[in-house]
Amino acid sequence: MASDNQVVMDTESGVEDGVRRRDFIHIAALSFTGVGAAAVALPLVGQMGASADVLAQASIEVDVASIETGQAIKTMWRKQPVFIRNLTPAEIADASKVAVGTLRDPQSLADRTKPGKENWLVTLGVCTHLGCVPLGAASGEVKGEFGGYFCPCHGSHYDTAGRIRKGPAPLNLVVPEFAFLSDTLVKIG
Ligand code: FES
Repeated sequence: MASDNQVVMDTESGVEDGVRRRDFIHIAALSFTGVGAAAVALPLVGQMGASADVLAQASIEVDVASIETGQAIKTMWRKQPVFIRNLTPAEIADASKVAVGTLRDPQSLADRTKPGKENWLVTLGVCTHLGCVPLGAASGEVKGEFGGYFCPCHGSHYDTAGRIRKGPAPLNLVVPEFAFLSDTLVKIG
């Protein structure tokens, strides 16, 4: 009856074979464990992917205290650029004097901002034509004919309320769900 001992007590080559067999079994067992680990790991990877998705869906909080009047910043939320702009009184006046009914996508500045905080314009930095990132958030960038944002891809002009005024984009820059948690802390999402 064959056993490991008998294999070891055989010829030298038999011993080597026996060792090799045991090593192979050991290695095979490890490999199997590895496969098992991989099989176990897959759902974990899936969960990690889900977590990443969940994270991507999560809200962000932005302290806007350092954004001076007339400045804008670009941040990221749900893998998309977001513009936060501190409008000047002149920009607010420009946005407010437009007859809303004449707009392609009729919305007032008040519709797109929070009561008492009409100077804070929060929009996605994604052109509603084909998704380019418009210019105008960074210092010195072209803001277009209406002083807001300009999409260089096909020439869409957005005004100081982020509303489409000229060019092929069909809609205003999207205002995401947002809220002020304090005077200067904005939660997006
Ligand atoms: S993607 Fe902005 S104008 Fe076409």
